[in-house]
Amino acid sequence: MSSNEEARFSLFSKKKTQKIDKADLKIPVHLAVIMDGNGRWAKKRMLPRSAGHRAGADNLKNLCKNCGHYGIKYVTVYAFSTENWSRPESEVHTLMELFVEYFDRYDPELEQEGIRVRFTGDIKSLPENIQAVCKRAEEGSKHRTRMTLIVAFNYGGRREIVQAAQKLAQQVKEGKIKEEEITEELFAQNLYLPDVPDPDLIIRPSGEERTSNFLVWEGAYSELWFSDVLWPDFGMKELTEALEAYTKRDRRFGGLTKEKKE
Ligand code: FPP
Repeated sequence: MSSNEEARFSLFSKKKTQKIDKADLKIPVHLAVIMDGNGRWAKKRMLPRSAGHRAGADNLKNLCKNCGHYGIKYVTVYAFSTENWSRPESEVHTLMELFVEYFDRYDPELEQEGIRVRFTGDIKSLPENIQAVCKRAEEGSKHRTRMTLIVAFNYGGRREIVQAAQKLAQQVKEGKIKEEEITEELFAQNLYLPDVPDPDLIIRPSGEERTSNFLVWEGAYSELWFSDVLWPDFGMKELTEALEAYTKRDRRFGGLTKEKKE
C-alpha cells in the first residue's frame, strides 16, 4: 500500500469505528424496549422457559439503573402483549406470578433510583389481583421524579388505537365533540398515557427485527435499533451501543435536514 493509500485507508477505518465521546451522546427522552429472547436464553442453558423470564425480569432492574445513569426520563418495556395469552397456560401463569412479585420485591431499589412506575395496556381487563398490583405500584411511586418506568402489560398497539376510537365515538354520541373535531392531537389524547412523550428510540434485542404491535401510534417516528443479544444478557454495553447509533441518526420527521433546507 502506498503512503497515500494508507492515509486514505486509516481515515476510512477511523470514520467507521469512530467512538462517540460519552459527553457527546444524544440521550433520548423516551426509550422503549421489547424484552425478547428469554426463552432462547433459557434453552441455551437447558433451563425451563420460566427461568428465562426470571432472568429477563432481573435484567429490567439493570436496564432501569443504566437508563438512570444516562439521564433517560421515560423507559417503556413490553412485558406482556395482548397476544401473549395464547402461550401455554403454565407460561402465562409464570409471567403473571413474576409481575405480582416484582414491584414489591424491587420497590426499595426503585425508590433508591427515584423511579416512578406506571402501566400501559388494557389494564381494566386484567384479573383483580393484577390490577391491584398496578394501583399499588403507581400510587406508591407517584412522588418519584428521576425517571418513569412504564410497563406495557396486556398491551397491544392495535387494541390501544381501537379503544381510543371507541372513547371518541362515545364522546360524539354524547354530543361532547363533533366528528370533524377529531384530529391527530385529539386522537392521541385518548390513548392510554397521553401525557407521555412519544418514544424516541425503540430497541429490540434477540435478533428479531419487527415491532410486534408495540407502541403502534406512538412509535410512528421512533428510531429503531436491533441487537442479536438476548434480553437477559442486554447490559450497559448494548445500551451504550444503541445510544451511539441513535446519536448518529438524522431525525427528520418527514421534513428535511437543516443542511438541505439551507
Ligand atoms: C419475550 O421473550 C418475552 C416476554 C413475552 C415476556 C417479557 C417479560 C419479562 C422480561 C419479565 C416480566 C416483567 C415484569 C415487569 C415482571 P420470549 O419468551 O418470546 O423469548 P423467545 O423468543 O426466546 O422464546
